[in-house]
Formats: sequence, structure tokens, C-alpha cells
Amino acid sequence: MREDFPMLKKDIIYFDNGATTLKPNVLIESLKDYYENYSANAHRGDYDISLKVDEMYENTRKIIKNFINAKKESEIIFTSGATDSLNKIIFGYFKNILKENDEVLLTKAEHASNILPWFELKDELKLNINYIPLNEDYEVTLENVKKSITKNTKVISIAHISNVVGDIRPIKEIIEYAHKNNILVIIDGAQSVPHIKVDVQDLDIDFLAFSAHKMCGPTGVGVLYGKEELLNNIKPLIYGGGMNASFDYDGIRIYKELPYLLEAGTPNIADVIAFGKVVEYINNIGMDIIEKTEQELKKYAIEKLEQNENLIIYNKNSKSGIITLNYKEVFAQDLAIYLNKYNICVRAGNHCAKILKDELKVKNTCRISMYFYNTKEEIDKLVNVLNNKNIKDEII
Ligand code: ALA
Repeated sequence: MREDFPMLKKDIIYFDNGATTLKPNVLIESLKDYYENYSANAHRGDYDISLKVDEMYENTRKIIKNFINAKKESEIIFTSGATDSLNKIIFGYFKNILKENDEVLLTKAEHASNILPWFELKDELKLNINYIPLNEDYEVTLENVKKSITKNTKVISIAHISNVVGDIRPIKEIIEYAHKNNILVIIDGAQSVPHIKVDVQDLDIDFLAFSAHKMCGPTGVGVLYGKEELLNNIKPLIYGGGMNASFDYDGIRIYKELPYLLEAGTPNIADVIAFGKVVEYINNIGMDIIEKTEQELKKYAIEKLEQNENLIIYNKNSKSGIITLNYKEVFAQDLAIYLNKYNICVRAGNHCAKILKDELKVKNTCRISMYFYNTKEEIDKLVNVLNNKNIKDEII
């Protein structure tokens, strides 16, 4: 399977999968096929290649619907990424139903895309934002969610898996409890949908956002899932071609139904089609195998890394393939630059979760984020490089 990824033929160890993943040949071939053999617009033409585009584009919708077990294809909206999806949910839906003093529950571990739109809406509608406290492992628990809910809480907006702590949050229980209290739940699935099986009906998710590029797919494609009854009340933020059935000089216009209502303009056709091919590829590997592989890699890495007493590991117990650490007395970015000398790619900094520092008590960390194509040999190399006694001299 590693041979499916051209980037893995290069002399690198890629541990920055939380930021984006590597791309398999099936993606590259799909893009080439579209641009070489049936390059036409979608939903606009009556000629053969345009009809083929429609079929391929809609086929991806079907594949995604099955992948997350949505009830209907019309519940799958293609966006430019998880950020776009979250903005569409927050400004297209919640802006129209929330009122002054309504409360939004987040956590301090959320990524910018699940915080900044809420800050904007808070200012506009005079909402209150509160944060569910994290436990001693920086994780979200149902107990803390229960304690944080008040009579004004209207929505909980949280990541399924945090992009820094890597904890798999008990969202099924959180959603069940929230619904009993008439609270809607938005799940940022950017770090979960690529790594664990997400079944929107089983979890009873109201809205879900995720990106293709974090699951071997192309950049510039994301998914907004919403329950049909909720999506029916979302207002488009973008108007134009593709989302209208007709309009006239006097302003009378008729818009299309979902999902097209929320996909104005020429969509990212080539990438959406390629995303479908990638999800088929991932399905062939199996989400259960992907999850199991990452958990094994994480366990293996933690066992080795924790023997190095210079390392501070912040999330030893979290279950996903994310390890967040610092080397004592070394600035996180310097450590990342040091690892780069050995062709090891990791991310350093605050990872866009800029208020998590309040909980971690440290602003910057190094993040090793794994995917199913990583190996124990790669972990061994990382461990060796981190065990180097001259590490501080090399950094200076
Ligand atoms: N959210 C992405 C990351 O965690 C960008 O790196």
C-alpha cells in the first residue's frame, strides 16, 4: 500500500498528517483522466462529456453519503473544506435562529475554524460563549459537558477528535444528552472522519464538517453534512449559477433544492470526482484497519518515547494517532527544524488551537500525527533522532 503514494518514494518520514495527508496514485490518475478525457462543466451541458461529468460528480456524493451513512444524498454538500463547511453552518443556519444571550458551548482545544466564526456571531448577536473544561488529560468528558450546560445553551460545537490532544470525544453520549435538552450539536470531523468510522445516523449528528485533503483526498474540497430538516432551513451565503432554477428582471427568482441550493458557481469538479475515487480506495483498506493501525503505531511510539526523560508528552493516553510533545528547554519550532535535518516532517507551534495554551500551560508544542501508511521503522528513526545526546548542540 505504501507503493500507492508517490511521496513515500522520497527520502522523508511524514508525520504531519493532521495538517494534510499524502496523496495516492488513484487521486492523481483521476485528476489526469478528468482533465485529459472529459473536461467539461457540471449540471449545465447536454452533450456526452458533460453528462459524464454530472454522473461522476454525483457518484462522489453517493459514495460520501454511504461513507458517513447519511440518510440522503441531498444531505451531502460539497464545500471548499471543513472551514467553509463550518462557516456555512454557523452563518447560514445558526445566525438565523440564535438570539441575544443564547449560549454557545465550545472547548479551549478547538481549532480556529470552530472558534473565530463564533466570535464574529457573538459580537453580531450578543451571544455568550462558554468553554467546556477539559480534564487532567486535556480531554472532554460527558460529566464536564453536563456541568457546562445552562438553560441558555442552544448549541455545542466541538471537534470529534482534537487536532492537538488527539482525544476521541464521547460524542454519541454528548449528543444524546444535548438533544434531551433541546441543544443542537455541530461536529468538526476534520480529524475524525479520516481516521475512525463516523456514522452520522448512529451518532445522531446534527451537522458535520470535514475536509478531503486530510484523508488522502485533494485540497479544496470539503463536506458539509446536515440532517435534512436542518439543512432545509439553512440560508445560502453564496448566490449565483447552479443554485437557481429561474429569475427575472423584477427580482422574482426560484432557487433549486438541496444540495444544489448550497453549491453556487462552478464546483471543484475534478477534485470532487477524485475525492470519490479516494474514498473508494480508503473503503478498500477499511476504516477498522486504519483505526487499528494508528492506535498500534501510537502505542508503540509512546512506549519508546516515554523512555526519553527529556521529552514532555502531553497526550500519552489519547487514542488517535496524534502525539504532542516538547523537548525540555528546547523551543518547539527549533525541535521541528532539527527533525527536518533528518527529513522528518512534523508540525510545531500552536496548531491553530490558539487558546489551548490556557489548559496546556504552554504555547507551542511539536505534533507527530500519523496515518495508516506510517510504520514502526519510521517511529524507530524518530525515536533515535530524539535520543541523540547532542540534540541541544545540534540545535544551537
Ligand atoms: N488543522 C490543521 C492542523 O491541525 C491545519 O494542522
